[in-house]
Amino acid sequence: MFIERVLIADDDPLMRNFSAEVLKRLGKEVFTATNGAEAIALLQKEEPFDLILTDRKMPQKDGFAVLKRAKELQPSVFVIMMTAFGSVESAVEAMQLGAFNYLIKPFSPESLEAVVEQCEAQAKVLKENRYLREATLSPHLIAESPAMKRVLQNLEKIAKSQASVFITGESGTGKEVIAGTIHRLSSRSQNPFVKVNCAAIAETLIESEFFGHEKGSFTGAQGRKTGRFELADGGTLLLDEVTEIPIALQPKLLRAIQEQEFERVGGVRPIKVNMRFLATSNRDMQEAIETKVFREDLYYRLNVVPLHLPPLRARREDVLPLANFFLQKFCAENHKVLKKLSQKAEQKLLDYHWPGNVRELANIIERTVVLDFEEEIDEAHLYLEPITAARAKPISGCTLHEMEKRLILETLETHHQNRTKVAALLGISIRTLRNKLQEYESTEFN
Ligand SMILES: Nc1ncnc2c1ncn2[C@@H]1O[C@H](COP(=O)(O)OP(=O)(O)OP(=O)(O)O)[C@@H](O)[C@H]1O
Ligand SMILES: [Mg+2]
Repeated sequence: MFIERVLIADDDPLMRNFSAEVLKRLGKEVFTATNGAEAIALLQKEEPFDLILTDRKMPQKDGFAVLKRAKELQPSVFVIMMTAFGSVESAVEAMQLGAFNYLIKPFSPESLEAVVEQCEAQAKVLKENRYLREATLSPHLIAESPAMKRVLQNLEKIAKSQASVFITGESGTGKEVIAGTIHRLSSRSQNPFVKVNCAAIAETLIESEFFGHEKGSFTGAQGRKTGRFELADGGTLLLDEVTEIPIALQPKLLRAIQEQEFERVGGVRPIKVNMRFLATSNRDMQEAIETKVFREDLYYRLNVVPLHLPPLRARREDVLPLANFFLQKFCAENHKVLKKLSQKAEQKLLDYHWPGNVRELANIIERTVVLDFEEEIDEAHLYLEPITAARAKPISGCTLHEMEKRLILETLETHHQNRTKVAALLGISIRTLRNKLQEYESTEFN
């Protein structure tokens, strides 16, 4: 059992007692609060809770205040928001703020048990499975702009269906975050969410990574290996950067998706699975199909529901909420007091064109937090490198590696982060480009 200590905050004694009864029957240690302020006091005083069940409307402080404080104190805590019938919007808002799920009142003991079980499964997954840890399951999804709100509007409906979803958008726009959210909102949420990053796996190993292999099936295959398809059975499989799958392997993948059946490499026994597919790509799909990088039939199979994430420059209303979210996150992670952005710093962020989208914003905020400036972050502290300034720097005195990095980043900038085009222009494969970018990202602070 991963969920042991539970806090229930509700001003309605009937609901409070009812929920407490159900949870006690599940063997949980239950604490109760009769309003938001009392709940917050308990959060600050008591040992950490594993789960918080909070009503939305309460006297003194409401459920949102409880949620916010709980997440500040312990970002990993599960929060379930209870709302009255007809206020589903606030439930969605709660989820954007980090709530794990919601319950609409009145609810049955079974519904409560089911959500607790979901938390239990998710906690287990987070603690135990390294495959799952690789996948982004961040419950935080900032979406203030009309463009993102439109994306979210249908997200729940899409999530509840079994349809494959193809998520497109420039690099760093949040495709993985959205994929994780779809899984979490789906009926499969208590089952595994497994990600395969198709661009990161060596071409020769992709097949065995997907489908597993039998002992001795190829040189180096020492033991039997379980593939990601098997690991995702019952849950959701995210084919991240799906366009990077070698064309030769695509028919086999299509068959596995259509029939939900495959064989391990070197194996003969068909393995039946049941899963939902999500895929992402930052390529122009039309072009990928025309240039025969990606099979059209596979695309149509995966693209039952298309979902496009707009670039950050097309949703400026998200910039400051995201910046503040990352400030909170990185200050907490680095054990620093919460910093604030000065007005000029905010303006600078708003004026920037964000070629690297949300990821770039996260990186910039993290760098600023780590470099330990004063409590108020001023515009001068935000290092947003305009591309022209980079170009103007003298070339001599810089290593070959630095030169290469600069060339790659500049070319990406010039071509609006279109990796396909840039790889072609530089005469390298998209995989090499991707690996180099990952390397730059991971050595950013070294
Ligand atoms: N709406 C959002 N709210 C909060 N965090 C976000 C949001 N969108 C993106 N992020 C954060 O930004 C970073 C990049 O997001 P993500 O990895 O999902 O992008 P991506 O579109 O998959 O990028 P790539 O194409 O390069 O793989 C992550 O750290 C993610 O947590
Ligand atoms: Mg991604």
